[in-house]
Amino acid sequence: MTEPEPAVEALSAFAQNGEREVETALRPRRLADFVGQPRVREQLHLVLESARKRGVPPDHVLLSGPPGLGKTSMAMIIAAELDTAIRITSGPALERAGDLAAMLSNLTEGDVLFIDEIHRIARPAEEMLYLAMEDFRVDVVVGKGPGATSIPLEIAPFTLVGATTRSGALTGPLRDRFGFTGQMEFYTPGELEQVLQRSASLLGIVVDDEGRAEIARRSRGTPRIANRLLRRVRDYAEVRADGRATLEVVRAALEVYDVDELGLDRLDRAVLIALVRSFGGGPVGISTLAVAVGEEPTTVEEVCEPYLVRAGMLARTPRGRVATAAAWQHLGVQPPAEVSGVDAEAPTLFD
Ligand SMILES: Nc1ncnc2c1ncn2[C@@H]1O[C@H](COP(=O)(O)OP(=O)(O)O)[C@@H](O)[C@H]1O
Ligand SMILES: [Mg+2]
Repeated sequence: MTEPEPAVEALSAFAQNGEREVETALRPRRLADFVGQPRVREQLHLVLESARKRGVPPDHVLLSGPPGLGKTSMAMIIAAELDTAIRITSGPALERAGDLAAMLSNLTEGDVLFIDEIHRIARPAEEMLYLAMEDFRVDVVVGKGPGATSIPLEIAPFTLVGATTRSGALTGPLRDRFGFTGQMEFYTPGELEQVLQRSASLLGIVVDDEGRAEIARRSRGTPRIANRLLRRVRDYAEVRADGRATLEVVRAALEVYDVDELGLDRLDRAVLIALVRSFGGGPVGISTLAVAVGEEPTTVEEVCEPYLVRAGMLARTPRGRVATAAAWQHLGVQPPAEVSGVDAEAPTLFD
């Protein structure tokens, strides 16, 4: 047994190296095992059931939302519920239209084609996808220059499931070709407790109720993070305690991993600190803010902001990003009188 290693990235919502296997083991398999997202679940259930009744592949589905909320899991569930095969690829892998043509021509009727990070698909492949989604047909261009000919190729009726962390980055024509968009939301602490209970029993980890609630509270509304913190707590409990994750053990473990009371990590805190200290609480533009914390604007925008907004710490305004009173309070700084709108006494996170 080894000492728990300090995980700087304990709170990253992106899957890390070596996490793939454990994530696979923990993925819910059927719609009924999928915790939370009641709206998306109900809507999808209707889409899938009605398609099944009519005996046709369901409309193309777009799943959108921040990383770690269950988009990939849901794509696999769709195939499982339809009792069909799933082919998996991603936007960045479809650099040339030919790559997509190869995938499409290998589909058999009713298959699910899952394209992760679909907003990163290259333009020529995207244009090929329009026709494929609409008419189950692609035009393959053979040859170059004036002698080039285009050969129409029938493809089997299939269901495209696209996942994206940035639905705003999708082109209009692509977005319009999805019959259904499921917007995945952050999970409530109660839902994360259910996720944790299931994961703990699958992994044989003993966590008591209070310990579980504490992990849930600090997991940024994200199942992937909840599952990761659970494993880090298990490591700590095995090395420094008797293996049982009590409230006390959970708190001590999360202290080691630099996960704060509200589940903010260093980058989130850096963003808030820059906003409050360097820019007087804002408003400040996203690129300026990103430079101040030494990160890419997209990282700040896609990874930090959704949760900071959800947690009521940061507001997006037409003039830029603004720290709320709760953010000042969380950093232990007295907000200026004009910062209002949030009860500074109680930075409560969720409903
Ligand atoms: N609703 C859920 N119920 C249980 N576990 C979940 C749920 N959503 C996500 N997870 C867990 O979180 C991990 C990440 O989910 P994933 O589907 O890969 O998210 P995304 O594709 O949105 O980044 C999965 O391995 C799974 O264990
Ligand atoms: Mg995914």
